[in-house]
Amino acid sequence: MAQHVLVAIAWPYASAKIHAGNVTGSHPPGDIHARYHRVAGDHVLMVSGTDSHGTPITVVANREGKQPEEIFEHYHRGFLDLFQRLGISYDLYTHTDTRTHHRVSQDFFLDLLQKGYLHTQVDEQMYSETENRFLPDRYVEGTCPKCGYESARGDQCDRCNTLLDPKDLLNPRSRIDGSTPILRNTEHFFLDLPKLAEAGLAKWLQEGKEHWRPNAINFARNYVGEGLRARSITRDLKWGIPVPVDGWEGKVLYVWFEAVIGYLSASIEWSHNQGTPEAWKDWWYDPAARTSYFIGKDNIPFHTVIWPAELMGVKRIYEDDPTRTLNLPYDVPANEFMNLEQKKISGSHNWAVWVDEALDQYDPDALRYYLTVAMPETRDTDWLWDGFVRRNNDELVATWGNLVNRALTFAYRRFDERVPTPGPLENLDTQLLARIEAGFETIGELLAAAKFRAALAEAMALAREANRYLEEKGPWFQIKEDREAAGTTIYTALRAIDSLKILLAPFLPFSSQRLHGYLGYEGTLFGRSYTTLFEEEGGRTHDALCYDAAGAVGEWKPSELPPGQHLRPSQPLFKKLDESVADEERSRIGAG
Ligand code: MF3
Ligand code: ZN
Repeated sequence: MAQHVLVAIAWPYASAKIHAGNVTGSHPPGDIHARYHRVAGDHVLMVSGTDSHGTPITVVANREGKQPEEIFEHYHRGFLDLFQRLGISYDLYTHTDTRTHHRVSQDFFLDLLQKGYLHTQVDEQMYSETENRFLPDRYVEGTCPKCGYESARGDQCDRCNTLLDPKDLLNPRSRIDGSTPILRNTEHFFLDLPKLAEAGLAKWLQEGKEHWRPNAINFARNYVGEGLRARSITRDLKWGIPVPVDGWEGKVLYVWFEAVIGYLSASIEWSHNQGTPEAWKDWWYDPAARTSYFIGKDNIPFHTVIWPAELMGVKRIYEDDPTRTLNLPYDVPANEFMNLEQKKISGSHNWAVWVDEALDQYDPDALRYYLTVAMPETRDTDWLWDGFVRRNNDELVATWGNLVNRALTFAYRRFDERVPTPGPLENLDTQLLARIEAGFETIGELLAAAKFRAALAEAMALAREANRYLEEKGPWFQIKEDREAAGTTIYTALRAIDSLKILLAPFLPFSSQRLHGYLGYEGTLFGRSYTTLFEEEGGRTHDALCYDAAGAVGEWKPSELPPGQHLRPSQPLFKKLDESVADEERSRIGAG
């Protein structure tokens, strides 16, 4: 039965360029998951956007002497281009400075306030006497009280991921001028997490989470188990969503409080733009819908505790039916981190694989392939340039690409540019086809369960099997004595390839699409991604990335390749990379 599948992907801050470590845990896995569910016939809604607010953006604006708007616009445009080139098929990639997002975030706030989940508290906060301003979150740096890391940020420790308050830091200093801040009173709204834990959050985390990865569920249970504290959800900042309460001018909603609401507001914005303003409810209120959040491990607390707490507190919004409640996350497939050549990635030290630059050099499918085989699903991994070259050459080119190339060119040259008409299939033929047919179930299950590395390994094992089959049958010898037997072999190989085209399509959408054409089919496997000036409520427009499913013919089922189908002239699917590429890339980042 077709399901509603919400693919929710972490919103990158509009404050830095995107490197491989930023994307590997969220955008490619989310996209693979979405593409699988689309070809499997499910109703997919995949959303994300640029996280426009918060101190990450204002700190950069300060440093560069610009307005936060300029910083955010600049990065937002770059992200749209990058995700489109990498083939991340967002139904809507928006940002958090839209009217819709402001409205939904403020409505969430007011609803929680009215239900008694928010309270105000006067509290001491870091204040800079040199700058005459409060220093929220990332304006303060110091030593982590939990692990001793000396450059912990005021909001979260980069080493142990503990959520922090700037006041928790030992030896705090201002990131603007290095001065030591003082404490000064200010009033803020607090989200009553202890009350929400009792209202059901703690119980929810204890039940039915067997399919969650250990990193996410263990963190969440420990975090709640250690006893939650109320968390402040407003800030003394100008850039952000105004607190919708009289007398609170000059304060904004905390970026983490509102950014997670983006998943819902983007769904609403998308529905509005489609001309079906209630459509989002199929993903957010249907209890059979599955909502999965693709994130890096530093985002775990916000997606496993804070966001579910907000959803649980609000319970129902823009909906009159009192029996309906907002869906809580079905899964939070969180990834560990990716390092580069065995050292932590650091954008500011240029120790990074910049995705836009990599896309200038390499085939997007080659990048997607490596980002998947090296995906930090269960532990930290490394981007190794040697590994990238080797995987491209040995696996994409020599295994999968070579299989396709041999079978296609043979059929094209020796069978009149057509899929040969087979004679009776023998054991070897039916065995191969049966093995590949079984792959639709096993690989499909792995993809639905967010086990992307295992799914890709399985698909590549089938490609190797098809290669072995071709070696064993040797159609280039068969044809000298028995043209029909050679035709049977090539037909079987092409049918296997046609199936593998679909099995690999979620990972390798560009090359699968080319192969689809070489095999003589019309149409596109997936829909079309495009950037646009998107119209949201009130007629306001903004740049966005969208996806149009119209005309997509891809289906998650074994090939029914018609004998006699006219083939098209083909090119190799992938390019071999010279061994020197790894050395050049390493020397570009100053590695030996
Ligand atoms: N901007 C945050 C980061 O880059 C992620 C936000 S995810 C969201 O870590 F759901 F909160 F939007
Ligand atoms: Zn720490």
